[in-house]
Amino acid sequence: MPVVLGIETSCDETAAAVVDGNYHVLSSVIESSIDQHRVFGGVVPELAGRAHVTTLGPVVARALADAGLDPRHPAIDALAVTSGPGLIGSLLVGLSAAKAYALGWGVPFVGVNHLEGHLFAPLLDQPDLEWPVLTLLVSGGHSLIVRQTGPGHHQVLGETIDDAAGEAYDKVARWLGLGYPGGPEIDRLAQSGDAAALKLPVSMTGSGFDLSFSGLKTAVVRATEKHPEVALGDVAASFQAAVAEQLLRKLRGAIEHYDVAGVALAGGVAANSALRAGVRALGEEFALACHLPSIEMCTDNAAMIAAAGLFRFGADGPSPFTLSASPNWQLAEVS
Ligand code: KG4
Ligand code: ZN
Repeated sequence: MPVVLGIETSCDETAAAVVDGNYHVLSSVIESSIDQHRVFGGVVPELAGRAHVTTLGPVVARALADAGLDPRHPAIDALAVTSGPGLIGSLLVGLSAAKAYALGWGVPFVGVNHLEGHLFAPLLDQPDLEWPVLTLLVSGGHSLIVRQTGPGHHQVLGETIDDAAGEAYDKVARWLGLGYPGGPEIDRLAQSGDAAALKLPVSMTGSGFDLSFSGLKTAVVRATEKHPEVALGDVAASFQAAVAEQLLRKLRGAIEHYDVAGVALAGGVAANSALRAGVRALGEEFALACHLPSIEMCTDNAAMIAAAGLFRFGADGPSPFTLSASPNWQLAEVS
């Protein structure tokens, strides 16, 4: 049975994981430099890159040891590494390290698209899941609705035309004077708020599957300027309801339009309580399997990269040592 080491360094998480040919996670280690970025209200690329340089070696060694492998001469069959999209300096640290490990250990490596990695997260929980699956892939950098007919076979139905959903959460949180990242804090405040307190628009109500969150962010700014008396929890609840409403409307439209067996969530915003509840309810309404990976597998991790690498290695073979990082690599460009 093949064993793959995955490496992920596209943003602020430095992660390594070992996954076997049955998508069984043998180890998964995640470190984050988020504490260094908080004061700046967002990830500072230069700081993230430097943090990967110091953290990656120990993280890889720990992932190998946790999987019962010798960190100096691990019995692995391949290495999978995120080669895009992401922050160029951060990607280069992971990619260069992966090439060095591959040369030193005499094993092949494969470059993986980070977004395709997110799509493999549900498979880690349920390797025999039934296809096709509709996935909302929502994170700080991306928001897409994807139809998957099998592992590695995906069609992007729509994506955001401006901000990502997580980006909107982070920007609104900043406007409200909350910490970074803003998603978890707004989600927590929203629990005790009144979602009808502010009248906010639901964007992109037309028939296509594209998304938009920039107008909603501006609407929150305008509404809170006009009604400063509205409590923070009520603002959070109103905003959260508008984000979930847009995403769930699109997912409902896709369920009605395509023949599917299941629905899934992926990306950091998949941790959102309203979205998880809404997707679960849609699954029940349409009698579809509902795949909600654990929070650790929804946010950036290397197990999903190892899993995607396992598939890519089998389908396309190893990557050449001339492979470079692709900071803007689109999911639709992955063959
Ligand atoms: O996938 P991720 O860990 O990193 C990338 O962007 O690739 O996602 C991070 C994003 C941040 O924007 C954060 O605010 C958002 O996920 N997030 C949430 C929640 N937890 C994290 N957004 C809404 N509700 C949450 N509970
Ligand atoms: Zn991500």
